[in-house]
Amino acid sequence: MIASLDQLEQMEREALASLAAASDAASLESWRIEYLGGKGKVKAMMGSLKDVPKEEKPAFGKRMNEVRVAIESAFGQRKESIGAPGEAARAGVDLTEPGLSQARGRRHIITRVREELCGVFGRMGFDVAEGPELEDDEHNFVKLNIPEGHPAREPIDNFYIEEPDGKPRPRMLRTQTSTVQIRVLERALKEGWGPPVRIVAPGRVYRPDTVDATHSFMFHQIEGLYVDRRVTMVDLKTTLFQFARTYFGADAQVRLRPSFFPFTEPSAEFDMMIRLRPDQPARWIELGGCGMVDPEVLKAVGVDPEQWTGFAFGFGVDRIAMGKYRIPDIRMLFDNDLRFLDQL
Ligand code: DAH
Repeated sequence: MIASLDQLEQMEREALASLAAASDAASLESWRIEYLGGKGKVKAMMGSLKDVPKEEKPAFGKRMNEVRVAIESAFGQRKESIGAPGEAARAGVDLTEPGLSQARGRRHIITRVREELCGVFGRMGFDVAEGPELEDDEHNFVKLNIPEGHPAREPIDNFYIEEPDGKPRPRMLRTQTSTVQIRVLERALKEGWGPPVRIVAPGRVYRPDTVDATHSFMFHQIEGLYVDRRVTMVDLKTTLFQFARTYFGADAQVRLRPSFFPFTEPSAEFDMMIRLRPDQPARWIELGGCGMVDPEVLKAVGVDPEQWTGFAFGFGVDRIAMGKYRIPDIRMLFDNDLRFLDQL
């Protein structure tokens, strides 16, 4: 009940003070219900006019109306300003306090390089193929012209799997992605879509090597295979040199060096001038092997070597990544130390 002008003034002051203290939508709404709601204080105030002595009514009524209008318009303004810029600061939130940083994940550098390589070869017309990491000796050796008794088959150089008795073929973690050459040609013939075949096959390979700055028991290769009519060594050389310039830049220095692989004839090694450490000069680093697919390999999968020829290559993805991103030690790629990986 409001019975005097003093009480009216006091109610106005209280209303405006508690309105100023309402700092968010929820507290503003409870203020609205308290003052402007159907059973609110403003309504009660207006209702008490009837109890005011008759001669005071005009002055009292006029002041009451002013108070009501003041409260209502203050509410309107407050409503607009809540949530507006600067409100957080006035409500006691320190906007200069550093936020909680979110560590963003990213793809591993090897994954990115693999995708970049598939992209470069993809633009040259190569499809991407894959094969299993657990292989049999037929795909890892026999059909690649690496016969029984060949030194590359020694257990000391391979991760053979212990097979249950009676399993006909030895199996192993593949030592090279060249296995995918065999798998793709076999599949192309069976399904009737090739040759011609033009693929790259990226993936992991495994060798019981002693780990050092350039060797690891698991590493990555990308295999290439192009089988068509009249494919020659010139196609191989052009493809590889083009690849090197596209991926490493126009001034990439590369060379082919005669070599030997059982599944290619002739065979070559593909080297590139790379500077891995700022304190050392650039030197020739072997990126991998290549050559013209040996007719024995084509025969082994049922492709007629009189009609079809092909080239193949197999490069170390980790080596390529090291060359491109100047990584001096292959172990850095697999330590999973984020302080290193985040720099790439
Ligand atoms: N598979 C060979 C290795 O791991 C690399 C290689 C050499 C692949 C010649 C090829 C090739 O396709 O033609 O050492």
